[in-house]
Amino acid sequence: MKKVLGLSIVLAVAPVAQAADVEAGKAKVATVCAACHGANGVSVSDTIPNLAAQRAGYLEAQLKAFKDGTRKQQAPTSPTAIMNAIAAQLGTEDIANVAAYFASQPGAATGAKSALLPNVVKTGVTFPEGYKESFTKYHTISFPATKQVRYYYANKAAVAAAKAGKPLPDGSVLFAEVYAAKLDTGGKPVMGGDGFYMADKLVAYTAMAREAGWGKDIPDMLRNADWNYAVFTPDKQLRPGVNQAECLACHKPLDNVSYTFTLKQLAGAK
Ligand code: HEC
Ligand code: HEC
Repeated sequence: MKKVLGLSIVLAVAPVAQAADVEAGKAKVATVCAACHGANGVSVSDTIPNLAAQRAGYLEAQLKAFKDGTRKQQAPTSPTAIMNAIAAQLGTEDIANVAAYFASQPGAATGAKSALLPNVVKTGVTFPEGYKESFTKYHTISFPATKQVRYYYANKAAVAAAKAGKPLPDGSVLFAEVYAAKLDTGGKPVMGGDGFYMADKLVAYTAMAREAGWGKDIPDMLRNADWNYAVFTPDKQLRPGVNQAECLACHKPLDNVSYTFTLKQLAGAK
C-alpha cells in the first residue's frame, strides 16, 4: 500500500510536457519561414509547399526528419537542402511552436500566393561589367538533369584570398554563366573537347558578392555574413521575382568555407 502511494506521488510531481507556444511560433515564422512559406503558411511559389492548416504532428515530424537527415537532399542542388539547413537551426521547442502556429492557420485558397519579403529579396549585387577580361574562369560543371553547362568566374579579390587560404573578403564576386547544352538530334547533350557539355544558348547569369553591411537586414537564420545573391537575364538585368532566401538558405551551412561550394576549385585557379 505504501509503495503504491509513493508511486502516485512521483507521478503527480513529474514535469508535464509544455504546450506549444503559438505566439512564439508566429514570431519565428514572421522573420524566417515567411520568406518562403508566407506569414500565414500560404507559400510564395509553386515549388514551395503551403503549410497552413496542415496537422501539427505532421509538420513536427517533417521538421525533425529534415533536422536529423532522415528526410535529406539526394543531390546538393535539391530543394530539400534548403529545409535541411533551416531545420538544423531549430530547437525542439521552436519546432513544436512553428508547427502549432501553421496548424492554427486557415487553409490556403486555390492558387493563393504570398508576397516575397522585401528585406530578404533586396540585393546589393550588380552586373560585373567587363568580367570576361578582369575575372578568372576557374571551373566548369555539366548538369545532366537540366542539360546545362555552367562556367564559373571570380574577381581578383576572391582568387587572391582563396589562394592564400583566407576567408573571401568584402569586394569578392563569384559569377557563373548558365548555358543550355547543345543537343544532338536525339535530344542528348553534345560533349565538347574540354570534356564538358558544349554550350548553346545563354540562359542566365548567377552571382554572389559581399560588401560591408549587405547582410544587416537579413534574419540570422538566413544570413550569410555580408554575402548577397542575384540572378541576371542574358541582357544583364536583375531577374525579377528571384527569392534570395533560397540562395541564402542553401549556401548557409557552408559558413566555414566562405559560403562557397567551389572554394577548392577557386583556390586551385590557374
Ligand atoms: C528559403 C525557403 C524556405 C524557408 C525560409 C523555409 N522553408 Fe520550409 N520548405 C521549403 C522548400 C523548398 C520545401 C520543400 C522541400 C522538399 O522538396 O523536400 C519546404 C518544406 C517544408 C516542410 C515540409 C512540408 C511537407 O508538406 O512535407 C515543412 C514542415 C517546412 N518546410 C517548414 C518550415 C519552417 C517551420 C520554416 C521556418 C523555420 C521554413 N520551412 C522555412 C523552403 C523554405
Ligand atoms: C538547393 C541548393 C542551392 C540553392 C537554392 C542555390 N544554390 Fe548556389 N550553389 C549550390 C551548389 C551545390 C553550388 C555548386 C556548384 C553548382 O552546383 O553550380 C552552387 C554554386 C553557386 C555559385 C558559384 C560559387 C559557389 O558557391 O560555388 C554561385 C554564384 C551561386 N551558387 C549563386 C546562387 C544564387 C544566386 C542562388 C539563388 C538564386 C543560389 N545559388 C541558390 C547550391 C544552391
